[in-house]
Amino acid sequence: MTDLAGRFRALWDEIAPVGRDAGSGGYLRYALTEPELRLREWFREQAEHRGMPVTADGNGNLFAWWGDPQAGDVVLTGSHFDSVPHGGAYDGPLGIVSAFLAVDELRGTGVVPGRPIAVAAFVEEEGARFGVPCLGSRLLTGEIAVERAAGLRDAAGVSFAEALGERPAGADPALLGRFAAFVELHVEQGRALVEADAPVAVASAIWPHGRWRFDFHGEGNHAGTTRMADRRDPMLTYAFTVLAANKEARLRDAHATVGRVSVEPNATNAIPSRVTGWLDARAAEPETLRGLVGAVHAKAAERAKRDGTELTCTEESATPLVAFDGGLADRLAELLDAPVLPTGAGHDAGVLAAHLPTAMLFVRNPTGVSHSPAESATDADCAAGVTALARVLEELACR
Ligand code: GLV
Ligand code: MN
Ligand code: MN
Ligand code: MN
Repeated sequence: MTDLAGRFRALWDEIAPVGRDAGSGGYLRYALTEPELRLREWFREQAEHRGMPVTADGNGNLFAWWGDPQAGDVVLTGSHFDSVPHGGAYDGPLGIVSAFLAVDELRGTGVVPGRPIAVAAFVEEEGARFGVPCLGSRLLTGEIAVERAAGLRDAAGVSFAEALGERPAGADPALLGRFAAFVELHVEQGRALVEADAPVAVASAIWPHGRWRFDFHGEGNHAGTTRMADRRDPMLTYAFTVLAANKEARLRDAHATVGRVSVEPNATNAIPSRVTGWLDARAAEPETLRGLVGAVHAKAAERAKRDGTELTCTEESATPLVAFDGGLADRLAELLDAPVLPTGAGHDAGVLAAHLPTAMLFVRNPTGVSHSPAESATDADCAAGVTALARVLEELACR
């Protein structure tokens, strides 16, 4: 094991137990809940240990500064701590741990950056608690209204503002204007790097994607006494819609997933009165995504008529196509001699890319699996990621 891989492992082991579910081996690190708050505390300790002052933006995002926190022309790096339910270890935290280690690498080699470097921990990237992904970066950039964000509620009815302990501050153009570039390092969420036999890649683009809530209303009734012909069963409309989404996505080479469902009253012996399913849809092109969601909605509506149910469809979040700064991606790919790849996964980098030059680095994931406990990365590849990130920060902050 190289020294750096050993240092990566030592730091990684500090956070590995936090929020891990003993049963699944996955993580339950929802934004602003106890495990994520512990990781935020760990972030402050790591920053303090490195003499990096920490500031908060009033939206739940934290920044640790190497250099003057008030200066401009800052090179920003970092990622998020929160996870999906039973998520993997690397999605998010890898970008933060790697950022601190990259700072150590630069300092260890005597690099004195000409520009400040800041490490960010963004809040609620997954949207697993409040429903809207990249909530922290959307607030900072003004891409979500404060009113709407403040009122988003988790499953227990707690609002984002209550969890944060204050009304979110919202867009901060002054802070944003001080960032010259953002680089987010992230575990790869597919197998492209395994196939390319490379430890690190540079991102070219993020597919446009979004979340749509389908509410199917019917008539709750007795499972034993209600004749089949008399039912208005929203579960049927829901099930048909899931199959339609799968079919329509395949037809377009796009992705459609219904990974979350809620049923009322959720009893084995009752016909449901309401079923809600959340459609996650993604495609390479915006028109394809629009066509996909439109087709699923139309088929669901047609089926609802047949089933005697009612349907409402609500867009909960939408993220346009992100083309990362091509010049920056090419420069980093050449610097690192790394492949350049698009991805179907959303990231805070995708939100920030509309506001400042932004790039992403991906670290190889041998299983290719993500949003699951099976997500993986070797210590050697994580060390290669840190080395790559340190080179990129040096390139951006010193030249
Ligand atoms: C976030 O990880 C997403 O792409 O869903
Ligand atoms: Mn992530
Ligand atoms: Mn994720
Ligand atoms: Mn993500």
